[in-house]
Amino acid sequence: MPTAFPDIDVLEDVLDVAARAPSAGNAQPWRWHVDRGGIRLLADWTRSLGDSDDDRRDVILSCGAVLHHCAVALAAAGWSSRIQRTPDDTVLAALELHRSDPGEGTRELAAAITGRRADRRSYHGALPAGTVELLVLRAERFGVRLAVVPSARWARLGDAEFALRYGDPAPGHAGDDAVMLVVATETDSDAARLRAGEAISDLTLAAASLGLASCPLTNPLKDPRNRLALTCEVFDGEAHPQALIKLGPRPDGELPPAEDRRSVAETTTFDLDRDRSVVDDVEPFAP
Ligand SMILES: Cc1cc2nc3c(=O)[nH]c(=O)nc-3n(C[C@H](O)[C@H](O)[C@H](O)COP(=O)(O)O)c2cc1C
Repeated sequence: MPTAFPDIDVLEDVLDVAARAPSAGNAQPWRWHVDRGGIRLLADWTRSLGDSDDDRRDVILSCGAVLHHCAVALAAAGWSSRIQRTPDDTVLAALELHRSDPGEGTRELAAAITGRRADRRSYHGALPAGTVELLVLRAERFGVRLAVVPSARWARLGDAEFALRYGDPAPGHAGDDAVMLVVATETDSDAARLRAGEAISDLTLAAASLGLASCPLTNPLKDPRNRLALTCEVFDGEAHPQALIKLGPRPDGELPPAEDRRSVAETTTFDLDRDRSVVDDVEPFAP
């Protein structure tokens, strides 16, 4: 058990920043419990957008994204976290906190949090050389695979809608030069989905810090035929696609407006008098 522990003001600030994480439908399906043992992350199933396996995937991916945002915000505040993932079937992650000075890379990621958006606009022009290779290496640190979706296999359907197109006539991108990336994992477990969510957070923050635009997408993967065709074509059938990330040069003009977030008071219970307290009303994430 670490002896030093952040003040509640620091913890509130960190969790407020972490809440800027992307989440499917901006549902923010997470809960935090903080005691002197550290911070625990739980899924909030009441905020799931449905009951299908795809909806469950969206919840865990979103929780992975907020976990990574939280670790980055903690590190920038001078607290590194030792993370135990899925320590039991109710807690998605337990973070034990230790004092530590942030490195330059962490500072850059943390600074990118407020300027990152799910940017659904069309992107124009090419990525700087080496960008995809850099992001592939970053994804590997999370045990996650990253590949490019062949450009003939995705389409822009409208202002903010994208689809995979296997079997249909070539649809075109309607002037969108984006590169479409696919994040995949070796297994399709909740633990793997959590890691994929962390990678989505890391990759979109890294993109923002490089001055690029990005948008995570899972809706295009919800048609099982397209998901299977993508898996076979890009991964020889040997990985599980978890999400797409649209990536490209940031369009000119203002950033898309920041979407609302739940307050720390709505998502968090604090029990700072105790080393290890019981979290009320938890549902197992592994049914
Ligand atoms: C797991 C996940 C899936 C998402 N899927 C989609 C999607 O299919 N289509 C879309 O337009 N946005 C998608 N998003 C982006 C969210 O809608 C966006 O993060 C949320 O509205 C908050 O906005 P912000 O990221 O700009 O803060 C997804 C985000 C995550 C983390």
